[in-house]
Amino acid sequence: PLPIAVLVSGGGSNLQSIIDRVEQGALDVDIRLVVSNKGDAYGLERAKKHNIPHKVLLHTDYATREAFDADMVKAINDAGVDSSGAVVLAGFMRIITPVFLSAFENRVINIHPALLPSFPGAHGQPDAADYGVKISGCTVHFVDEKTDHGPIIIQAAVPALAGETGDELGPRILKLEHRVFPQALQWLAEDRLELDGRFVRLKPAGKRLAEQP
Ligand code: GAR
Repeated sequence: PLPIAVLVSGGGSNLQSIIDRVEQGALDVDIRLVVSNKGDAYGLERAKKHNIPHKVLLHTDYATREAFDADMVKAINDAGVDSSGAVVLAGFMRIITPVFLSAFENRVINIHPALLPSFPGAHGQPDAADYGVKISGCTVHFVDEKTDHGPIIIQAAVPALAGETGDELGPRILKLEHRVFPQALQWLAEDRLELDGRFVRLKPAGKRLAEQP
């Protein structure tokens, strides 16, 4: 299985969707570490419950983003995840720097609760709802130096209803997140994602010998 670290800041329902798929045998990753930048993130409890190593690194303890990122890299490396593994941002609400990205080149993926490039930032669901879009959704993408910008792996859409708030739209988007994020991760684990500039191509699955004549 692909060794991964999962970074969270909050509830960790996306982390849970990954844990569940692993436990069902449907996702070939080994969650070596969960890191939270908040001491009270419920995602930490989820890790604890499933005996997954977890760690709190408070960004407020650091003078610079780079110093914080350097310590995160160290913690993740110490847990056995290097540039041949992957780092999954699952509701991690901090901007990461080149210090972090250079340690895991093209191996960091993020989920965003809107159809990028629309509504980047920390409030994707209410921003889309308040704008009055008719469709929103979520985006899983490789992380690059710009916020919510890297090459898109998969997107999924839901209708947005006139007059609804981000709190009403958000849960429908979250449900989709729990489907597409584990899928994107499984493709990464199967080494099926081919990067070509901004484009991500999904390589065909390996031969299924059972289906051969
Ligand atoms: C998710 O909706 C995720 O897409 C979003 O935070 C939520 C975390 O929920 N991420 C961002 O907004 C990143 N800009 P969770 O902690 O229950 O997985």
